[in-house]
Amino acid sequence: MCAHDGGGASIRGAPESSTRAAHGAGAAAAHPQALIEVEEATQRFGTRVALDRFSISIQEGTIVGILGPNGAGKTTLINLVAGLSRPVQGVVRWRGKQVVSPFPRDVRRSIGMVTQQTALYDELTVRQNLGFAADLYGVERRKARVGEVLELIGLSDRAKSTAGSLSGGMQRRLALGRALLHDPQFLILDEPTLGVDVEARHALWGHIRWLRRNAKTVLLSTNHLDEAEALCDRIVVLREGRRVTEGDPAELLARTGTAALESELVQSVRVRPPDMVEVFRALKGADDA
Ligand SMILES: Nc1ncnc2c1ncn2[C@@H]1O[C@H](COP(=O)(O)OP(=O)(O)OP(=O)(O)O)[C@@H](O)[C@H]1O
Ligand SMILES: [Mg+2]
Repeated sequence: MCAHDGGGASIRGAPESSTRAAHGAGAAAAHPQALIEVEEATQRFGTRVALDRFSISIQEGTIVGILGPNGAGKTTLINLVAGLSRPVQGVVRWRGKQVVSPFPRDVRRSIGMVTQQTALYDELTVRQNLGFAADLYGVERRKARVGEVLELIGLSDRAKSTAGSLSGGMQRRLALGRALLHDPQFLILDEPTLGVDVEARHALWGHIRWLRRNAKTVLLSTNHLDEAEALCDRIVVLREGRRVTEGDPAELLARTGTAALESELVQSVRVRPPDMVEVFRALKGADDA
């Protein structure tokens, strides 16, 4: 189902800091093909440590899944990788070069993000939602590109429907389409199938596989083991801000066992929706305006 080439991600977290010998200042050389790397990142909210000296290196052209229960730190990590926030400690590198939020314009243009809450404009039509985002991104050939994306996500026949009238799965597809408008190299999908039924989930999986076939690099978070297994070249299991384990799906399941992995996914915590305009601004950058 997935290409398990073993090269998707390599992870080092606080529990195994002794394995970091080859990392540190030479990290770029240690991972020559890494599209994006996070090294020893810590993020805190007040006294709460949401991410604890977490490292990940994502190879170009792979799908990497962050698997973890509610509150594990998935969105916190994703926000760092998307350049929406800065870690209190640690660094983020894009193609081996350190980047600090807000990321440089060329890096921002290479990133597309689907946030955990789709945050569509319910009263606007599907086409208007895409057109608005295309304007914010400064997408060229706006009208034609919106048409292409509508085809891609299979919503051409619903272009005139309001976003609020779409099914949950269609709304997720629209959110994905919005992130694809500027044809980014790197897609970040925070729980891409949250709250959709089985059929819609499989349709979304089809779109995510399409991304991989088109040489995109994908980082997705999920708290469904089957989703990570079905889609990802590498899975990183995160809990309480730390890496629990990582590997390619088949190897990981063989080593850890389905039951043990699933037990890692049982925990609950509240989540906060991001403001979409803020997300666009951060990705696009104030200097583009
Ligand atoms: N803006 C914030 N202010 C305060 N605490 C936060 C904030 N963002 C995250 N946290 C805390 O950081 C921890 C990690 O949260 P995060 O949203 O990254 O988890 P998650 O793995 O994405 O969870 P979920 O599956 O519920 O989306 C949680 O304890 C959460 O309460
Ligand atoms: Mg989250």
